[in-house]
Amino acid sequence: MYKIIGLVGSPRKENTYFLTQTALAEVKKHNIKTELIHLGKLNIKPCNVCNACIKQGKCIIDDDYNKISEKIKDADGIIMSSPVYFGGVSAQLKAFMDRTRHLRREDALTDKITGAIAVGASRNGGQETTIQQIHNFFLIHGAIIVGDEKTRHYGGTGQASKLEDIKNDNHAIETSKNLGAHIAKVVLKLNKE
Ligand SMILES: Cc1cc2nc3c(=O)[nH]c(=O)nc-3n(C[C@H](O)[C@H](O)[C@H](O)COP(=O)(O)O)c2cc1C
Repeated sequence: MYKIIGLVGSPRKENTYFLTQTALAEVKKHNIKTELIHLGKLNIKPCNVCNACIKQGKCIIDDDYNKISEKIKDADGIIMSSPVYFGGVSAQLKAFMDRTRHLRREDALTDKITGAIAVGASRNGGQETTIQQIHNFFLIHGAIIVGDEKTRHYGGTGQASKLEDIKNDNHAIETSKNLGAHIAKVVLKLNKE
């Protein structure tokens, strides 16, 4: 059975978490297994440039990172989500991204089907620049990026400060559902005999 993982970069269980759940619920409708990982709550330290990833082919910092990297290696698709912090991803998500340097050398994310979700408090608060940063990460890993197929934009985009706002943000819900459906469709299509 195929599997798609949602990686939530917010330290909170609110807007970004909700939209990632929304996208994964759509994935499930295609009989694909899902797992949501709340990265922002885990203990993932920033890269300290010890270069063990180059010399030994693995990250040797002892925290929650290695169990997550094993999970994403096995996934067919990844949805990465972040709150907008100063027009970019959260520090928690960036720490995770930088720790994946060894995965690039293993081609571990190459050809995985991926997409992004971002939530900012303002209408033009940097949702697209945050998604662009996530897309850059996936491109540098050789992954295949998809957007929210029906509206043909960047992925799930929300405007909210608190949970009630995101639950009433129809555009956010629609684009996140569309992203989930598109990732599921491409995973099934590309894995067809
Ligand atoms: C440090 C910090 C920086 C922020 N920067 C922005 C920003 O640049 N643009 C924006 O629209 N919202 C910004 N916000 C607001 C959050 O993106 C917004 O509250 C979002 O809904 C949080 O997502 P969450 O509920 O998943 O944690 C910032 C919030 C924090 C804590």
